[in-house]
This record gives sequence, C-alpha cells and structure tokens, in this order.
Amino acid sequence: MERELALEFVRVTEAAALASGRFMGRGDKMAADEAAVNGMRCLLDTINFDGVVVIGEGEMDEAPMLYIGEKVGNGSEPKLDVAVDPLEGTNLVAKGLPNAIAVLAVAEKGCLLHAPDMYMEKIAVGPKAAGKIDLDAPIIDNLKAVADSLNKDISDLTVVILDRQRHEGIIEEIRNAGARIKLISDGDVAPAIAVAFENTGVDMLVGIGGAPEGVLAAAGLKCLGGELQGRLKPSNQQELERCKKMGIKDVNRVLRMEDIVKGEDVIFSATGITDGDLLKGVRYFGNGASTHSLVMRAKTGTVRFVEAVHRLDKKPKYALGAVLT
Ligand code: FBP
Repeated sequence: MERELALEFVRVTEAAALASGRFMGRGDKMAADEAAVNGMRCLLDTINFDGVVVIGEGEMDEAPMLYIGEKVGNGSEPKLDVAVDPLEGTNLVAKGLPNAIAVLAVAEKGCLLHAPDMYMEKIAVGPKAAGKIDLDAPIIDNLKAVADSLNKDISDLTVVILDRQRHEGIIEEIRNAGARIKLISDGDVAPAIAVAFENTGVDMLVGIGGAPEGVLAAAGLKCLGGELQGRLKPSNQQELERCKKMGIKDVNRVLRMEDIVKGEDVIFSATGITDGDLLKGVRYFGNGASTHSLVMRAKTGTVRFVEAVHRLDKKPKYALGAVLT
C-alpha cells in the first residue's frame, strides 16, 4: 500500500465523524449511525483501491451499506480488506458521552480476520507490555506482567473494562489485586488503542466486547507495537457454526496478533466524534467544523494526529452525510 493512502483514509473517518457528530446528545443512536455510514460510504469510492468490506455494518440482508462483502473503492489496485465501524459507540453519541469514534482499518486482501458479529474476550496492552500477556493466564498474572513492564506497582495500573454484569467476577479480582479500574458504558476500541499511549492514563483493557471491534483495535495496536489477544465467544449453535465456517476449528483457541491482523501492510484511521482520552470530538462553528484524527501505518510505524478544519459550506456532502446517488 502506498503511503498516500493513509491520508486518503483519514478523510473517510473524518467524513463519518462530521456527519455523525451532529447527532450528539439527541438520543437517537440509529440516526447517528446512519449519518456516519452515509458519510463514510460517500468518501470510500473516491479512493484508488479495490476493497471488500470484511468487518462492517452486518450481513448484506441486515445493512443497506457497508455490509460484509460489499465492494468499496474505485476498483483500481491495490486489492484490500476493509474493516469499518463508522460509529463505534452509538449510545455514546446518542448520550453525548466520551470516546465515540469513526474507525477504519485496511490491510492486504486476506490479512484481516473476518470476525463475525459475536462476542470476543480480549486483553489489550501497549508496546512495553506486548509479548508479556497471556489471555489464558489468571488476571493477576497479567496485571503483574503489565505492571512490571511499565515499571509500576499494580496499584498504579488503570484497567479499562466494559461495565457489564458478565464482568462482575473479573472486576472483583482486579479490585482485590489493588489495581484501579475505569468502567466504561460502551466503546472498547478507543480505550484499547489508548493503552498504547502513555499520557492517556489507561494501561490495559480486558473483558468481553464485540469481535469486530477486536479486529479494529488489533489493527490499531499493530501500528503501535502493542498487543491484543482475543477468544471468540459464540453464544449459540449458530454462532459456533459461523466460527467453524471461518475455519476456526477450536473456538477456545487464543487468537494472537498474526491470527487477527496478518503482516505489516496495515493502515488504521480513527476520528473522534465525542471528546475522548485520545481524540477530541467534532467542533462545529458557523460554516465549518474541526476534526481530530489518528492515522497510522504498521509498515513504517508512523503515527499521525491530524487536526483538520473543514469548510462545510464548500463540501455539503460531508455536512449532511449525504447518501450516494
Ligand atoms: P455500538 O455497536 O452500539 O456502537 O456498541 C459498541 C460496543 O460498545 C463495543 O465497543 C463493544 O465491544 C460492544 O458494543 C459491547 O457489546 P455489549 O453492549 O453487547 O456488551
């Protein structure tokens, strides 16, 4: 992938954020999501690549746009797999809560795990603790390993975890170990990426969240030298069959970075929709708006934060998240 593509893809997440940010606090998560999808879809076909959505808005019969298997890009080389979440954290935008992002990752064809829409147990850490964690190990061992890598006491660690009943046990274990916990209501991609940046105040993410979100987070962490390990959690026979169809014979197997995101030819882009630990949200002013994005390439390890000012009067499609005609 040419490096220019990174700057093309940041325009895509910017467009989704600009469209979706209008819905902050309006209590309508469907409308916020639809706007993000429209914004993202509009921009994707302006880019020189031949892409297929492998992580998207659902199966073809569930989603009108950005469905799994949909072709995106203008059809010219290179052939890429595309993982998108135009609005990661629909409730967060609906309620005006932090850490909603528009996010996308692309990799060479065949290099992204086609994770079905089911749960995944995850552990994510930044570069210093990469190689030191083990999803199969007790949480206390992982806390010790991360604390040692960061040269901290366990009591100085901050662990992010979705505030769900299913996490009661692990929350208690982390509390007993003495680590600090940040419970989040939604949106585990932004904090999974944030653990790789020392100034964000979060050190690791654990718990069960969406599998598609796990692939997006792993792509971001690949660019940053961090690590995510995951285990698919099919909750019924149908989901189990889907795992098998994907070639995952042993669903209990821990999926490591190379199982989730193969190779180094990966681009990751995320734009803040609401303010978060890592990215500022969209600000609107008169005839314009500003966005804050993170765009990275695994091959070179370049990490760019892009602050952009958009003249919405000059590009109304961005402003409205218009549907392609
Ligand atoms: P949305 O699909 O509404 O954006 O929610 C995303 C999310 O909060 C993910 O970040 C997380 O991995 C997953 O949902 C958690 O699922 P659940 O809400 O079922 O626990």
